[in-house]
Amino acid sequence: MALLTILRYPDARLHKIAKPVTTFDDRLKKLVADMAETMYDAHGVGLAATQVDVHEQLILIDESDTRDQLRVLINPEIVWASEERSVYDEGCLSVPGIYDGVERPARVRVKAFDADGKVQTIEAEGLLAVCVQHEMDHLKGKVFVEYLSPLKRNRIKAKMQKEEREMKKERDPEMAR
Ligand code: NI
Repeated sequence: MALLTILRYPDARLHKIAKPVTTFDDRLKKLVADMAETMYDAHGVGLAATQVDVHEQLILIDESDTRDQLRVLINPEIVWASEERSVYDEGCLSVPGIYDGVERPARVRVKAFDADGKVQTIEAEGLLAVCVQHEMDHLKGKVFVEYLSPLKRNRIKAKMQKEEREMKKERDPEMAR
C-alpha cells in the first residue's frame, strides 16, 4: 500500500469529471487500498478518487467512530433524495481547516458497485448522507466551497494559495524567492 497525494483546492484537477469504472480488477483493488490508507492517515471521513488525481467514479467513506467500517462506492448513483433538506458543517481533505454549512437533501438512496463489482443499495441519512453527496460532487468536479458565497469562496481560495506558497517555501527556499 502507498500514501497518495491529496490535491488541494484551488487545484484545477479537482474540477475534472470522473469516468465510470469499467473493469473490476487488481488495479482497482490496489487503488482502493491506497486510497483507504490515505483517507485514514489524513483522518478523513471520505475520499473521492478525483482528490488523488484519478478521474474515475470511485469514493470511499468511513463515518464510523471506530474507523473500521470502510464503504467502497463505485459508479455511485443517487436513485432517490428526500425533499427534506438539512444543513451540515462540511469539511474536505482538499480544503484543510475550512468548515462551513452546506444545505443538501437530508436522506438519499444510493446505488453503487463494491470493489468486487457487486451492486449495493445504501439508505443514507445524517453524516452518511452528507458524505455520499459531498464525495459524489467531487466526481463531478465540484468542491463544497462552490456552494458558499463568492465572497467566502474567494477568501478561502486566497488562504489556500497563501498556505501553498508557504509550504513551497519550506520545501525549497531557493525556488520560492
Ligand atoms: Ni471533499
